[in-house]
Amino acid sequence: MGLDLSVALRRLRLRSPVMPAAGTFGFGEEYAELLDLSDLGALVTKTLTLRPRMGNPQPRLWETPCGLLNSIGLENPGFSAFLEEVWPRLLRLGVPVVVSVYGEGPEEYGEMAGRVPREAAALELNLSCPNVPGRPAALAPEEIRARVGAARAAWPGELWAKIAPEGDYRAAALAAAEAGADAIVATNTFRGLAIDVERRAPVFANVFAGLSGPAIKPLVLRIVYELCGVVGIPVIACGGIASGRDALEFVFAGAHAVQVGTANFFDPWALPRVLQEMRAILEAQGVHRLEEVRGCARKR
Ligand SMILES: Cc1cc2nc3c(=O)[nH]c(=O)nc-3n(C[C@H](O)[C@H](O)[C@H](O)COP(=O)(O)O)c2cc1C
Repeated sequence: MGLDLSVALRRLRLRSPVMPAAGTFGFGEEYAELLDLSDLGALVTKTLTLRPRMGNPQPRLWETPCGLLNSIGLENPGFSAFLEEVWPRLLRLGVPVVVSVYGEGPEEYGEMAGRVPREAAALELNLSCPNVPGRPAALAPEEIRARVGAARAAWPGELWAKIAPEGDYRAAALAAAEAGADAIVATNTFRGLAIDVERRAPVFANVFAGLSGPAIKPLVLRIVYELCGVVGIPVIACGGIASGRDALEFVFAGAHAVQVGTANFFDPWALPRVLQEMRAILEAQGVHRLEEVRGCARKR
């Protein structure tokens, strides 16, 4: 019997647990000639906003030891242009597509949720962007509840809430679950800072930026472990995953699926490689179904 890597979420079954993290894989179509996208559980779009956004001033990326600081600032063509121009092309790729959105408040989340095409595999609410000036990355639980509730009322399909790794992330995840989210995506980037010693000034115009990559993996693994014990809905892990071994750490901690972000920048083939490495390790361990081993490293 072959290894079954499929994953049952609340309203959706994924053929594999591996997918890109929002904003690190374009709209996915850019990779269609390079990779066999059918290996992926889903594509996740870059985050869309109601109106087009130019993003933040340069520089937007800064490498750190084992990590990356970014301050992209949600550059995107806007939700309407996405629906008209990009969506028809994504549909033709034959891969489930998760649409990621960010709103200024509950109304914007509700408006976009109501316009998401029914063929979308899931709607991911970005509730945690660290790079929007004047906005905290970690929202208060009541703000999470209002945003998720507005999206839930307008979108009948699978709904994911992507939270920040800072603030009271337990309360944030519980608020999202209570408001009707089907899964928690944990997590977005950590706010970090880089200072240009020659200029004696912060590298980024917004001062702080989001830290991602292998440097954050143990921190996010701890958060995923904690959340899997309390939220009662699936957790999709995102933070520093660059190998099959990394991905399995999260699954063994209790995650249903994983998202790969920064690794796509240093290895464009990271997604199929992570999946292939997971498969090789699980086969060597004599596992038949990924679901058999989910949470196996949790202390009972
Ligand atoms: C360049 C860049 C752009 C990103 N854009 C988005 C985005 O549009 N929406 C979002 O929810 N997260 C965005 N993220 C965060 C990632 O989706 C992910 O949560 C984070 O990078 C942690 O995963 P990683 O360590 O595997 O990169 C971005 C990250 C990077 C590095």
